[in-house]
Amino acid sequence: MENDDIKPCLGEPTEPTNIVIFGAGGDLTKRKLVPALIKMLRCNLLHPDSKIIGVAKGRSKEQWIESLHLGLEKYAEIQVSDQQWQTFSNMLNLVPGDLQDDQTYIDLAASLEQLNEHTNAMFYCAVPPGWYTTIASGLHKFGLADEAEGFRRVVIEKPFGMDLQSSRQLNHELQSVLNESQIYRIDHYLGKESVQNLLVYRFANSILEPLWNRNFIDHIQISAAESLGIEYRANYYEKSGALRDMIQSHLMQVMTLVAMEPPVEFTADAVRDEKIKVLRAVRPFNQDDIKQQAVAAQYGSGSIGDESVRAYVAEDGVSPESVTETFAGVRFHIDNWRWQGVPFILWTGKRLPKRVSEIVIRFRKPPFNLFDTHAIPPLANSLVFRLHPDEGIALRMNAKMPGLTTDTQRMVMRAPYSENGEDVSDAYEVLIHDVLTGDATLFSRADEVEESWSIIEPIINAWKDRISVERYRSGTYDVSGMDALFKDCVGGWHQPK
Ligand code: BG6
Repeated sequence: MENDDIKPCLGEPTEPTNIVIFGAGGDLTKRKLVPALIKMLRCNLLHPDSKIIGVAKGRSKEQWIESLHLGLEKYAEIQVSDQQWQTFSNMLNLVPGDLQDDQTYIDLAASLEQLNEHTNAMFYCAVPPGWYTTIASGLHKFGLADEAEGFRRVVIEKPFGMDLQSSRQLNHELQSVLNESQIYRIDHYLGKESVQNLLVYRFANSILEPLWNRNFIDHIQISAAESLGIEYRANYYEKSGALRDMIQSHLMQVMTLVAMEPPVEFTADAVRDEKIKVLRAVRPFNQDDIKQQAVAAQYGSGSIGDESVRAYVAEDGVSPESVTETFAGVRFHIDNWRWQGVPFILWTGKRLPKRVSEIVIRFRKPPFNLFDTHAIPPLANSLVFRLHPDEGIALRMNAKMPGLTTDTQRMVMRAPYSENGEDVSDAYEVLIHDVLTGDATLFSRADEVEESWSIIEPIINAWKDRISVERYRSGTYDVSGMDALFKDCVGGWHQPK
């Protein structure tokens, strides 16, 4: 890029790499991967000698590049000048082909050799999970995963299986052709600024650590509320539901970072060793617990803002009898020294009033209420890590109302990460950069994935044969089952406004 286009960014420089995208014509490539790569190139985090090679069938290189350009205009929240697009598109190449055809891998190998003498390669599987082992085997068979002359890293997206058995099988099949160190299981939640900042807040400050335990914290809520419905994804979502889609993956991963002990060093395995200890300490669910500790519900029709929206069962591709949950809440207990007795309540839902994702650390109530004679008794303090929108943290405290009174009022101390949003990196940018620099800290290891499936498997089994599901009106939080999850929690369910 021209010097004018380059904005210096913090971050380790990357080596020239062939970035291969399987599923190059798909939605993920347009919406997330291409905008992230352009942003990285703009700020010097993608080496200009790198090449981006799409693998897709049924289109010419020109058609593919044109569709990426249109996608960028439609989805990306960034302005890209003609010159920037030109520089980026010069890096693009297409290998047409079918993923199950050996010839595709032979063509890909030839193309990589011809394009770039640098042999580092990252293979991004932006395809449905059923293709992961086919691709990994193809790479292995034609020597593309061989790391003799450079790194070869394979990136896969969730879901990593649909239950414990299928996740074990997937891990087994991948590990039979790749080393575990070559597999990057991406969880885009871990690339969010606030999630990474959680680790910095916890381990670069000394004032939080003394409070970060059962003596001071009443409970923790980790949530992802969305206003969108399932859009065009009925096929996947009908089989998945909210428990698998969000809780088993993103929210449990976040929970491990909130709950883990300080790692001995900030390296991938040291962090992941601590995360897996949290998962091992999660109290197993028995059938009686599930009724008290897990909630499923499905959106009915309603309105979000001014827009009327239809019920889940009326969405294209959804069975009118479907009982798939679009809302799930689970109350976890972590049986260890630090967290005994502190509920971790993870919840998520589609078609809720607003898109808000956050971690709420709710502290215990003040032990004695000195101001009880007045209108509002002081509320418990909370520390909120906002993952989306308005990334940042907020500390909710009690303060005196101005004037001749000792009545209290709520005061919120906010610390946004950026005033205008520009400095906040997109999760894909962070995670692609991590793959290129070989930092697997924010990626899930095989044992973590299997452990989290084994924790929620009893809930999956209990829900499998249900014949009905609670309905909530779109645009509301009317999920009555949630009260039970918060029955003994100070301040109850925090519904983001
Ligand atoms: C995806 C889920 O992994 O995460 C989607 O499959 C969900 O259903 C999305 O909408 C939420 O991500 P974000 O970053 O928009 O909160």
